[in-house]
Amino acid sequence: MAGRREAPVIGIDLGTTYSCVAVWQHERVEVIPNEQGNRTTPSCVAFTETERLIGDAAKNQSAVNPINTVFVQGDMKVWPFKVVEGKHGKPRIMVTYKGIEKQFDAEEISSMVLSKMKEVANAFLNTHVKAAVITVPAYFDYSQRQATKDAATVAGLEVLRLVSEPTAAAIAYGLYKNAILDGVNVFIFDLGGGTFDVSLLTIKNGSFEVKAVGGDTHLGGEDFDNRIVEYFVAEFNRKHKKDISMNGKAMGRLRVACRAVPRSFGALCEHA
Ligand SMILES: Nc1ncnc2c1ncn2[C@@H]1O[C@H](COP(=O)(O)OP(=O)(O)OP(=O)(O)O)[C@@H](O)[C@H]1O
Ligand SMILES: [Mg+2]
Repeated sequence: MAGRREAPVIGIDLGTTYSCVAVWQHERVEVIPNEQGNRTTPSCVAFTETERLIGDAAKNQSAVNPINTVFVQGDMKVWPFKVVEGKHGKPRIMVTYKGIEKQFDAEEISSMVLSKMKEVANAFLNTHVKAAVITVPAYFDYSQRQATKDAATVAGLEVLRLVSEPTAAAIAYGLYKNAILDGVNVFIFDLGGGTFDVSLLTIKNGSFEVKAVGGDTHLGGEDFDNRIVEYFVAEFNRKHKKDISMNGKAMGRLRVACRAVPRSFGALCEHA
């Protein structure tokens, strides 16, 4: 509206392990850094004796407070936090917050991460963002899309649109602008933290049609991390005859160390 400065719409990629927020500014997409200067924020919430932490602060203390540090998703077998069965078999996450036992739905944890991403944008833009476009995996069904919208509403965000992740990736690579590409099929390969998604899109008149989706909802960087963790638990057991798998603190510390392995290996390969 003329003369009125409205808060811009933000784009949020709510990932299972990391989330990202961006805004259209100065004719390009600006991926917004959080207060730590990081352009991705761990999709992680922690509850302590005194406060609730979200993002880097939550992930950084996960080693010392593993049972009260909640990730948006992951493999239940290796979750250090407690999950109990709620109504209609719905999983509820159980934590101790300020000394009191509390339960949360997965959507509530997602909404806390979305609020955090909104705050990151508010701080950067010095405004109060009210609306967002949020990406969801191409295979999300109606109820999963609805749950994402509900989580956003709780976070105080109006969802203008949910965009499927492969479509967002194709847009990010500018594929929609190119008339030569009309009718062309695009294969999107997204190896994330929790899921491995492959999608086949067709470009038609500058928009994308999802032709097929596939992949593995339980294969991602975290699974590689878990394999490394399992390897070292077995190695420690073999060498020291001690099973550390039930020790939350030791497991948390081992996990932090194992997460760094693929990254340093990647860095080594880059410099080789
Ligand atoms: N430089 C790197 N080398 C190797 N792995 C990395 C590197 N940087 C990030 N990762 C891994 O990539 C994963 C994060 O990927 P991404 O940000 O796509 O996750 P996500 O979007 O939350 O996951 P999903 O798409 O499953 O929701 C993590 O497992 C992380 O450890
Ligand atoms: Mg992702």
